[in-house]
Amino acid sequence: MPAAPSIEVLPSGKALGAEIKGVDLTRLSPDAFERIRQAYHDHLVILIRDQDLSDPELIAFGKRFGELEPPGMSIIGKPYLDDYPDVLVISNLKSGDGTPLGNLGDGEAIWHTDMSYRETPVSAAILHAWEIPPRGGDTSFANQYRAYDTLPHDLHAKIEGRLMVHDETYNSAGQMRKGFEEVADPREAPGARHPVVRTHPVTGRKCLYLGRRRNGCILGLCLEDSEATLDRLWAHASQPSFAWTHRWREGDVLVWDNRCVLHRRDGFDPASRRMMHRVQIKGERPA
Ligand code: SIN
Repeated sequence: MPAAPSIEVLPSGKALGAEIKGVDLTRLSPDAFERIRQAYHDHLVILIRDQDLSDPELIAFGKRFGELEPPGMSIIGKPYLDDYPDVLVISNLKSGDGTPLGNLGDGEAIWHTDMSYRETPVSAAILHAWEIPPRGGDTSFANQYRAYDTLPHDLHAKIEGRLMVHDETYNSAGQMRKGFEEVADPREAPGARHPVVRTHPVTGRKCLYLGRRRNGCILGLCLEDSEATLDRLWAHASQPSFAWTHRWREGDVLVWDNRCVLHRRDGFDPASRRMMHRVQIKGERPA
């Protein structure tokens, strides 16, 4: 008889993703959390619907995965929530004087890994939907174990053992972070240098670790070769057969493994409202 028998794990049927049914994230037994953690490792992205979490409850759920990491620099130069600096607000809403109430606005957020520009990027992110537009704003995920396992031989030979630049200047919506400047040469972009292929510290499996395309650069290749190689890598890593797209409902909670998954978000109508709260879990230096 499985521990926490009322919990069901329903795989998406795609390259990654599963819904977990039968849980209230504010009242999880150790056995129930263990089922959730196992599903997260098995499916890389997990969805739990119909959760009404306050920020302290989101924080408490996040801490079950590990220590929280404060978010990267926001576009307003300070945390969005004074009382909860570990929570990143992602929203298109603005205050009366026009100050953004969250990151990313209403446009597309391109394929990326969260905070890979840090020396020790976050291992996981947890996103909770407060308000959702009637259309658009879907979030897609791509399985980077599969991307690595299916790499064409010549591409594999070109990147194995190499490091890549992970630029910090722009977020995934193309918004410049406060305090940064335009990058003239990607080889000199501010941000960490990480292996293009990393080994997941829990599963021991290798995966691609690409960060963001903008200002990316593979060290040791000339700029022209790096650009051409990155274009091929990104086209391979983000192909639809490796992906699963989530259409949000209010109360949804998604947890993703930021070490082996890329994600992106569709744009949506600027006149509609989207409000999400996110926490992120400390990670380790990619190796
Ligand atoms: C993110 O990139 O973390 C945000 C995704 C989303 O807004 O759905």
